[in-house]
Amino acid sequence: MGKWKLRPEKVSWREEAKKRVALEAVKHLQDDFIVGLGSGSTAAHVIQEIGRQILKAGLRVLGVPTSSQAMMLAVRSGIPLTTLDEYPSLDLAIDGADQIDKKLDMIKGGGGAMTREKIVASAAKQFIIVADETKLVDKLGTNCRVPVEVLPFALATATASIKELGGKPLLRESGRKVGAVVTDNGNYIVDIDFGPMKDTEELNRRLKLIPGVVETGLFIKMADIVYLGKPDGIIRLER
Ligand code: A5P
Repeated sequence: MGKWKLRPEKVSWREEAKKRVALEAVKHLQDDFIVGLGSGSTAAHVIQEIGRQILKAGLRVLGVPTSSQAMMLAVRSGIPLTTLDEYPSLDLAIDGADQIDKKLDMIKGGGGAMTREKIVASAAKQFIIVADETKLVDKLGTNCRVPVEVLPFALATATASIKELGGKPLLRESGRKVGAVVTDNGNYIVDIDFGPMKDTEELNRRLKLIPGVVETGLFIKMADIVYLGKPDGIIRLER
């Protein structure tokens, strides 16, 4: 009879890279910092590492979560939480991204949390992005849609205006329930295919002028530092 062989679970280099950049970003934290906690799988590593630092090294910070996902994980990780009402100015925010270009402009919102992510990032003195190197692109919008949060009441009118801007809108449907994804703010998400984009700043402005558009996943001139994880190290980009 053959013996059972315990094979370690195969972890992809991307997962390892995400953990590595998360650890790097957490080094920016200091005692008494109020820190914005991002959403998504890379930001999850950040939240878990902050929790470990609190437990092991007695790090003293308060977190402001950007989503219900971040909030629940932060609670499980032992991070004391606060709100923007109590601290409208944050020392630091750390978050992931879906696409990043060389100017450090980004598309975010793959997890549907871009509205709170943008509010938290804009309240922070420093905004650090963590991602694996596959997120770096020449032109934002290459094989990536721009998520936009839309009030349900304005879905049809906003969708028509998005088409006038040259985008191909698609209402984000839920994978685990019938119907549309509903955000933490009670709204819908429209994912827009613009193809590779030229002037993202102008496009962002135009999208935001559409009545009923709450926020867009275009993060322009917001990131200060980006840590990109490679199979064998980290790249640091600064704006
Ligand atoms: C959440 O809405 C997003 O903005 C995430 O930050 C983004 O999708 C990155 O997620 P991953 O780290 O899971 O790729």
